[in-house]
Amino acid sequence: MATAELAGKHLVLGMTGGIACYKIAELTRLLTKAGATVQVVMTEAATQFITPVTMQALSGRPVYTSQWDGRVPNNMAHIDLSREADAIVIAPASTDFLAKLAHGMADDLLSTLCVARDCPLLVVPAMNRQMWQNPATQRNVTQLRADGLQVLGPDSGPQACGEVGDGRMLEAAATYEAIASFFSPKILAGRRVLLTAGPTFEPLDPVRGITNRSSGKMGFALARAAQQAGAEVHLVAGPVALETPWGVFREDVQTAQQMHDAVMRSVADADIFIGVAAVADWRADHASEHKIKKTAERTLPTFTFVENPDILATVAKLPHPPFAVGFAAESGDLEVHGEEKRARKNVPLLIGNLGPLTFGLDDNEVILFEASGATKLPRADKQTLARTLIAEIAKRLPEPSPIR
Ligand code: CTP
Repeated sequence: MATAELAGKHLVLGMTGGIACYKIAELTRLLTKAGATVQVVMTEAATQFITPVTMQALSGRPVYTSQWDGRVPNNMAHIDLSREADAIVIAPASTDFLAKLAHGMADDLLSTLCVARDCPLLVVPAMNRQMWQNPATQRNVTQLRADGLQVLGPDSGPQACGEVGDGRMLEAAATYEAIASFFSPKILAGRRVLLTAGPTFEPLDPVRGITNRSSGKMGFALARAAQQAGAEVHLVAGPVALETPWGVFREDVQTAQQMHDAVMRSVADADIFIGVAAVADWRADHASEHKIKKTAERTLPTFTFVENPDILATVAKLPHPPFAVGFAAESGDLEVHGEEKRARKNVPLLIGNLGPLTFGLDDNEVILFEASGATKLPRADKQTLARTLIAEIAKRLPEPSPIR
């Protein structure tokens, strides 16, 4: 989970009435853990769903609910509370509060804070499907976007009222990611990034197959970091048990051939291709249609293998390739194999995993191989490393070409 963007940030977290208030307890915990200070301000309605005592304990600061609160020395809570703020985040943002914001109303502490602010305002809507679809709500949201507010979500799915549809608040972790994303420098704004991640699975029969130990964590961390850097991100993922990073378009595949086809369908639009997947080099020539059974004679099955397409090399060979980046997981002699592999695959940048194979681990140490030489990066957790790598890639990007 990204933390660097939020360390030292001061957020006013405005809560309005809605059952999603329970998610804000967890959100507050995530934000404070990341080093942000969180000043909670609640509307009267929000206090019906969760108590100010809970929010005070989690944020470690007094909670404000009224513009007449005598604790603010100059009696100007509506100005003082947001004076130092890097942003105001309204979560959950009710239908009523969105309507108030769209019309510039200021009839309680939180709405007055929003009108009197001098910092960005992010809203995280939470409401029933019909309330979200109501033309008045949609009009208000369009107006809020036009006014420069960030609207995070809403999510789709089952709702507290028993209905299913758009309107539910993003989960706490997704809200956290969206806020972190807002604060990340947009070094890839306007760029499209295509990535592969995870292993591939090459069937031998309907229940068995060949795969490898790639967890997909590095690829997913890079997809998240690229999204947070402002890129439009398309992630082609092999079979992994990981959540899709917020704001990333994900396409699931199983085999190397499917991964290749998915990449080829989208690569023409990409400015950057990052091949992080541990693609199986071979597949069975003829996978059995039925489960292979043991025979009475105990004859062992035999397979012949054929080579899978090399996705990275194919992308690099295109007439107008995107900036193509490869990864190399080696069990020895990385310094020798890394540069050799980069040159063989004809990519400008190859990232080599240093040390023992790091499948599934959260830490990584890598070397960047490029024509001008090799550079070692310090050991870091995969999310920090992903951000560093995205910055390194951004530095090396050619200016966008008018013909692509
Ligand atoms: N790669 C790919 N398609 C393949 C094999 C590899 O796109 N069929 C990409 C990987 O995503 C990675 C890079 O090529 O970015 C290097 O992968 P690696 O498995 O280390 O290289 P191989 O070419 O398979 O070489 P070897 O297994 O012999 O080390």
